[in-house]
Amino acid sequence: MSDQVVSPVRFRADVLAVPAYRQGAAPTKPGFKLSSNENPSEPLPGVLEAIAGRSDINRYAAVAMPELRETIGAEFGVPGTHVHLAAGSVAILFQLVHAAAGSGDAYLHAWPSFEAYPSLGLASGAEAVRVPLTAASEHDLDAMADAITDRTRVVLLCSPNNPTGPTIRRADFDRFMARVPADTLVVLDEAYREFVTDPEAVRGEDVLRDHANLVVLRTFSKAYGLAGLRIGYGVGDPAIFAAAASVAIPLSVTGIAESAARASLTLEARAVHAERVAEIAARRDALAAELRELGIAVPAAQANFVWIPETGAAPGGVVDALALAADFAEAGTLVRPFGGVGVRISVGEPESVPVVVDIVRAHLVRTREN
Ligand SMILES: Cc1ncc(COP(=O)(O)O)c(C=O)c1O
Repeated sequence: MSDQVVSPVRFRADVLAVPAYRQGAAPTKPGFKLSSNENPSEPLPGVLEAIAGRSDINRYAAVAMPELRETIGAEFGVPGTHVHLAAGSVAILFQLVHAAAGSGDAYLHAWPSFEAYPSLGLASGAEAVRVPLTAASEHDLDAMADAITDRTRVVLLCSPNNPTGPTIRRADFDRFMARVPADTLVVLDEAYREFVTDPEAVRGEDVLRDHANLVVLRTFSKAYGLAGLRIGYGVGDPAIFAAAASVAIPLSVTGIAESAARASLTLEARAVHAERVAEIAARRDALAAELRELGIAVPAAQANFVWIPETGAAPGGVVDALALAADFAEAGTLVRPFGGVGVRISVGEPESVPVVVDIVRAHLVRTREN
């Protein structure tokens, strides 16, 4: 809540102290919306038909959704009972932190990372402990392991990291897990896993079976383009999800979202999905390369966005995140500034790439002149 709002009723002081999650801005003029890491493509083949086919929206959806959970579980080599669905993977993050960490407890996450992380423990009273990224904008897993105490109930790992882009390497993940107490929950948030092209990156499917305290999170919001329908999932031990379900808001996953997710996993849809993901990854690499040519130290980009760090611009061209984002907005393109830290630019339509490069180039020229 903002400071200016005077509430007629009493709220918890700790709640009022935390800023609400800020969604990417809505466009106000024609241009590209590159502020929320969305998928620029139309829905996968079969998805719109599946949604239109749901004539039972006067009913609550059957919450178990066994077919969808079995299909997802098969990808990870586990039964559907090891799959937990929610209205977006962010809902599962909330559930897990609430279920595991209460007043006096702590959970760890890297920073900068997904903007929802710092407030996840707010309602449960758990303390969010931030561990700064390395100079390469990667998770500092040694520092994170060092930061684990008796109070730590959950560790959140984001790979690829939103907003900076690098993944956690498999070897580093293995070393880290060896240092985490077996009764501390580790959440590997892989919201952008489908876009990863680095073969050394950790992959939930490969590590899940080695760790009973590990949950892997994925979502249909990004690579599958269903952000507006709100459906994501976790894979892990059913006992962990039983606890998560105890604090979940009931009946949140809609039948329409379930149908869209199932339609996204047919053989035909998967083939188109694979092509589109490869196109986005190639476009991302091209965009990152062009920005690096301008002298910007874009870190390894492994998701569907690139990161311009404030301190990473060429000498004489230091980027001010808010000023750069303002130049984008002026040109009708929305990006996500993190004041004092950097700017995240989602990989959008093919035509958006030269537009982005031109705006950044013009910004560098202008700021060098001043
Ligand atoms: C790292 C990360 N995790 C989770 C989410 C939540 O995605 P959703 O709730 O749409 O599944 C996001 C969304 O931006 C994200 O960036």
